[in-house]
Amino acid sequence: MSHVFLIGFMGAGKSTVARMVAEQLGRSCVDLDDAIAAAAGRSLREIFEDCGESAFREFESAQLSMLADAEPSVVACGGGIVLRNENRSALKHMGLVVYLKVSAGETLARVGADGTRPLLSGPGGVIAATSLLEARESLYAAVADVAIDTVSRDADAVARDVVAAVKERDA
Ligand code: S3P
Repeated sequence: MSHVFLIGFMGAGKSTVARMVAEQLGRSCVDLDDAIAAAAGRSLREIFEDCGESAFREFESAQLSMLADAEPSVVACGGGIVLRNENRSALKHMGLVVYLKVSAGETLARVGADGTRPLLSGPGGVIAATSLLEARESLYAAVADVAIDTVSRDADAVARDVVAAVKERDA
């Protein structure tokens, strides 16, 4: 048994689905963004504003690598986890990687206006979402063991698919 990692773009529902899957599998749920905020003692927005994206990426890699010694959990990863090669290798080594797919339009409808995503804030949000997603899609696909579409689907249905994938892997 190893970790189950949920990866994918902002707004794919990783945190919500991770909580549901963890409950159904009787495992702990780890939200990497929350772990980063706790370790840094400030919100993600503050980390981005005060220290910049590269400092955030250092926190992100550090929190991911700490999972090597943790009990098998369901882990919701931030959308940019796949940007670093070292993170992609760590994901592959530490568990089952499930890619939750979403479109740029649905990302913006779900989280674009809530102000919690520094990379999507401001008037350029639509262009940012489209170009970031395009740049990352091949990275998500390359590291994923399983891909699940979330567009026009509720979190319950997506969680069921993730649980089925985990059970198939463990069978
Ligand atoms: C980011 C996604 C966010 C968070 C940070 C950067 C990204 O997480 O880690 O704002 O680069 O895509 P979610 O994918 O959970 O929104």
